[in-house]
Amino acid sequence: MKKIAYALALVALSAPAVAAEPNWGAGADDAAFQAMLKSGFREKGIAKLSRLDQDAAQAFCSDPKNASAKDNAGQREKIEAENMATIKWPSDGKWLGDWKEGEKVAQSGRGLTSTDKAGDVNGGNCYNCHQLSPKEISYGTIGPSLLHYGKLRGANDETLRYTWGRIYNAKAYNACSNMPRAGHMGIVTEQQMKDLMALLLDPQSPVNQ
Ligand code: HEC
Repeated sequence: MKKIAYALALVALSAPAVAAEPNWGAGADDAAFQAMLKSGFREKGIAKLSRLDQDAAQAFCSDPKNASAKDNAGQREKIEAENMATIKWPSDGKWLGDWKEGEKVAQSGRGLTSTDKAGDVNGGNCYNCHQLSPKEISYGTIGPSLLHYGKLRGANDETLRYTWGRIYNAKAYNACSNMPRAGHMGIVTEQQMKDLMALLLDPQSPVNQ
């Protein structure tokens, strides 16, 4: 009896080693996976299936190997440079709009759903990930707190440029940033960008009180 128990235990022990690894394919670029993903969605209104197509940065960052690899600094830098090249700077050279409007944009997560229309104004959804005005106590913490952002950094040229670029296309600074590329993806307009800039950097903004 004992012998059989040992034999079974041995089989059980050796089983994981001999069992074939489940084959999930090569990752997000695997054709079977892509087909499965696409079959789970359907187009409706402005929400097209092309939203599932990944650009180089998204494909790179979706591969778990890349998230942990230490030797891919070169690839990350390339992605950041490509994203940096997409940034449209303010067309009239003015960085700051109206912080009151910026607060509305930061508060709103509306837009781009299948029931919205092309050309509708979207929100920036910033409070979903950041603390901004101390008056808003409901905020997410995926991103760092931006409370006192302008007060801490001042509105020098370098900060203005960095902040604009960050909001426009966060992957220009961090290839695998979790922050949506608000300008690059056409989520916010140039005017909304300026209003968000004012929310962060205008000394009158509640963010800087
Ligand atoms: C899904 C979460 C998410 C949303 C939504 C988001 N951010 Fe971010 N943000 C981040 C993360 C994470 C970082 C940290 C840097 C990184 O990983 O890119 C960050 C960094 C920043 C920074 C740089 C902070 C620093 O100390 O240098 C600014 C400025 C910023 N976000 C502004 C905004 C604004 C304005 C909005 C709304 C248009 C916004 N973010 C929406 C996640 C988000």
